[in-house]
Amino acid sequence: MEISELEQLLSGARSLCVLTGAGVSAESGVPTFRGPDGLWRKYRPEDLATPEAFARNPLLVWEWYAWRREIIGKAQPNPAHHALVELETQMAARPGSRFTLATQNVDGLHERAGSSNVIRLHGSIWVLRCTECGEERWDESVPLDPFPPRCASGDPPCGALMRPGVVWFGESLPPEAWGRAAEAAAAADVFLVIGTSALVQPAAALPLVAKRSGARLVEINADPTPLSDLADLTLTGKAGEILGALRGRMNTQ
Ligand code: OAD
Repeated sequence: MEISELEQLLSGARSLCVLTGAGVSAESGVPTFRGPDGLWRKYRPEDLATPEAFARNPLLVWEWYAWRREIIGKAQPNPAHHALVELETQMAARPGSRFTLATQNVDGLHERAGSSNVIRLHGSIWVLRCTECGEERWDESVPLDPFPPRCASGDPPCGALMRPGVVWFGESLPPEAWGRAAEAAAAADVFLVIGTSALVQPAAALPLVAKRSGARLVEINADPTPLSDLADLTLTGKAGEILGALRGRMNTQ
């Protein structure tokens, strides 16, 4: 019943904006941040994903990211990622329609599934950025060598410590990514929010921006969130199962 409501809402959408969080990758085996498997050793993400934590103990922070890089490197996109590719394709075939996918995830699984123009609000775990010269490089090697990584740019090489190219607590989102996402949220007539606890700002404000601008808000999540009561439609369950079922229906039409 709820799936048919979801299907109906999506089939009528002219400007669809999707926001995903860690829950969309959970069925790919990537741990979420705030679930029961969210703790790494005894640390919460708020204890590790900050400039202060990195300044205090870069090796500890890098060990956390190295652990995540190892898991993500082996992970495959799941039916939720694939269904979003299908949705993008279907929207592209509708004249005058618009599809935007913004993610808080740094794992790149949307891109690996085939989504295009993904707005990465929190950067990428595969980007390394020099703490001195700001040079960035794309590096998918697991394990990293040397560890922690050092900047190789310049002659002689800069040699300074590199940091993960992700957004930490207390840092601003990349302005271009944020601008595109905020604009798409305000222009959406349907906003689909999937697998996020909706606790981390400013990303958590996007569904509210959309709702205030008149969008129908749809949430898919394993658990209730602060958005659940505001949503026009809430589907409770695993994103891969729900979106996998939706994809099955889309393909039989
Ligand atoms: P969280 O770990 O906070 O929330 C994940 C959400 O997904 C929770 O609401 C879960 O109930 C839900 N969930 C778990 N498994 C699911 C499944 N199979 N299907 C659907 N939902 C599922 O992750 P985010 O909201 O993405 O930022 O966290 C936001 C940001 O906080 C992250 O981008 C990261 C983190 O600290 C930074 O590192 C800056």
